[in-house]
Amino acid sequence: MYNDKVLKEFSNPQNVGVIENADGVGVVGNASCGDIMKITIKVENDVITDAKFQTFGCTAAIATSSCATQMVIGMTLDEALKLTNAQVVEYLEGLPPQKVHCSVLAEEAIKKAIEDYKSKQN
Ligand code: FES
Repeated sequence: MYNDKVLKEFSNPQNVGVIENADGVGVVGNASCGDIMKITIKVENDVITDAKFQTFGCTAAIATSSCATQMVIGMTLDEALKLTNAQVVEYLEGLPPQKVHCSVLAEEAIKKAIEDYKSKQN
């Protein structure tokens, strides 16, 4: 069902955990499957310097969280806000069609964490 890249990311996920004193926290869930994803970020001078995730979910949700956190580290907030689930799926060299919706959680969690950071600045 899953390609090698997805399975590798799932079995050796990067950036697992929670950042203490995170600058932004994003928690999202998928109502249909009940999976939950939490992403915490550190921000310095509008650049994401660290990102970690905790995902209670399926293989695709864990693989996409791992990818999304790796992709946004080093990005400016504006760049990270433009990250789409399609880019995450591309990074993973594809997901089974019925699992593409899982990658939406990663996009949403990153966006929520950034929104949380921005709301704390105001
Ligand atoms: Fe719920 Fe994948 S089945 S996120």
